[in-house]
Amino acid sequence: MMSLGNTYSREELLEFSNRVSKALSEKFEFVCELKYDGVAIGLTYKNGKLQQAITRGDGVQGDDVTPNVKTIRSIPLILHGDYPEELEIRGEIYLPHESFRRINAEREEEGDQLFANPRNAAAGSLKLQDSKEVAKRKLDCFLYYLLGEKLPALTHYDNLRTAKSWGFRVPDYTVKCGDIDSVMEYVDYWDKARSELPFDIDGIVIKVNSLQQQEDLGFTAKSPRWAIAYKFKAERVETKLLSVDFQVGRTGVITPVANLEPVFLAGTTVKRASLHNADFVEKADLHDQDFVFVEKGGEIIPKIVDVNLEKRNPDAVKIAFISHCPECGSLLTRNEGEAQHFCPNDDECPPQITGKVEHFIHRKAMNIDSLGEGKVELLIDKGLISDASDLYSLKYDQLLGLEKVIPEEEGKKERKVSFREKTVENILKGVEESKKVPFERVLFAIGIRFVGETIAKKLARHFGSIDKIAEATFEELIAVDEIGDRIAQSLIQWFGREKNRQLIEKLRTAGLLLEGAIQKSATGSLAGMTLVVSGVFEGYERDQIKKLIEDNGGKNASSISAKTTCLLAGENMGPAKRQKAESLKVRIISLAEFLDLLQQPI
Ligand code: IVH
Repeated sequence: MMSLGNTYSREELLEFSNRVSKALSEKFEFVCELKYDGVAIGLTYKNGKLQQAITRGDGVQGDDVTPNVKTIRSIPLILHGDYPEELEIRGEIYLPHESFRRINAEREEEGDQLFANPRNAAAGSLKLQDSKEVAKRKLDCFLYYLLGEKLPALTHYDNLRTAKSWGFRVPDYTVKCGDIDSVMEYVDYWDKARSELPFDIDGIVIKVNSLQQQEDLGFTAKSPRWAIAYKFKAERVETKLLSVDFQVGRTGVITPVANLEPVFLAGTTVKRASLHNADFVEKADLHDQDFVFVEKGGEIIPKIVDVNLEKRNPDAVKIAFISHCPECGSLLTRNEGEAQHFCPNDDECPPQITGKVEHFIHRKAMNIDSLGEGKVELLIDKGLISDASDLYSLKYDQLLGLEKVIPEEEGKKERKVSFREKTVENILKGVEESKKVPFERVLFAIGIRFVGETIAKKLARHFGSIDKIAEATFEELIAVDEIGDRIAQSLIQWFGREKNRQLIEKLRTAGLLLEGAIQKSATGSLAGMTLVVSGVFEGYERDQIKKLIEDNGGKNASSISAKTTCLLAGENMGPAKRQKAESLKVRIISLAEFLDLLQQPI
């Protein structure tokens, strides 16, 4: 599922309108909608029957929550009227304020941890195992985007009206606007009136109404050019700075965090705010017991934006950055040109050991989710593992019966982790299955500083094996697309350490994939397809299109053969290519058709 480009500024909204106007050079109208703050959902229907409900997740992989969604009364299980044979409709599952208050009151009575805001409560409810419990939560859903081959109308607005007649809950807050002035009026109105709505919104979505014009405008790699989200400015509150902690991350990076007197801000209680790094701390010029102004950047992470100097105690001491690691006492280092300090003791510093293994098992890395929630810590505490490779020699008998009480933290109640038969079986199964994880994800999982998911893919694609990466010189590394000095240095430093080389050898012995071609997504909308891209495309570089193909599970080929599924024809494509495609009966598609293909439900 794609997301929307977003802005907090009216000027940018005007720029969006001008961009649309310039690109279309004809009359057009907008549709303004509320931006519902819940969990994005994609519903698929076949012959009028609900087939599947998938959450947006990280945009690529979501969760199948069909049984739970079936308990939401406003989502029809069966459509009525003249609906298309197949259709996908997207919307937002949210928790109305009333239900949110009731659930939290019940939880308080039961002594359960409260939900911080309706969005978290909606997301948490959708993940429940027991659908009967979900039904009690009284989730609701607004539908706002219809996809499919045979849509009933030529405009977004009319399609939604028709979807309403099939039984969907389409919001009545949606309006058509003939110009940007009326869009601004809508924005102004809801900026004030949102506090009276019975549910949370975090902005306004503005879309071009005509489907033909939407198609003409197309998509960037990330979002449609025919829509934008205007996000309401963050609320700001004042609170007291209680203390500053210095946290140590998995790569040893030190993050200063402010502990604040709890304060309610935009739906949640804020107790902490990131202070990022030493420069930020210096610039913020915070003093002991200061009163600070806090905002939520993008309404998620709270940040200190100002200090109330009038309230500063004249004797207050300035908050200084630390020189030694608060966990292991090592002298901190800071590489030239880098903002962050880090603890160099990555072999022994406890949060670094735990953090590395937790990163290793993460869903996007080795995906050993049976080891989540405090289990890694328990294994380290019991001396069963000291790095990720030790996971592969764990035995059933060593694990069975292990227990640990995790003390209350960050509003989470005290809980007990205990390894019963089923837990142990799941852990060993998860570890075993991780041996099939493709090389590029193993490379990401190892946790080399600055080697994120994308860089790991680039390196894996370029070098093909961990040994080739380990042998590569600085020059060879920086010759790879997107690998700069900083990443190259980090790689050379990492592979230069004996301990890390030993880790690789242990992972090799365990049977992990340390070489091999990138595994293409077998689930993307282009899975199993081979495409040839030819010509030039307005608004897209050829490489961008090739990446889109790969990211969606397809294969790129340079010449047309009987194995080619589609020829993606841009402008100025040579006639020979077209002839060859026609003679081999290879389908020729335009950019718009290609982007449509990407939108096909996975
Ligand atoms: S349209 C192709 N309309 O905002 C884009 N999204 O980044 C289709 N959202 O996670 C999205 N209200 O869940 C659209 N009226 C609305 C919306 C809306 C909320 C969410 C959506 C997505 C995010 C956009």
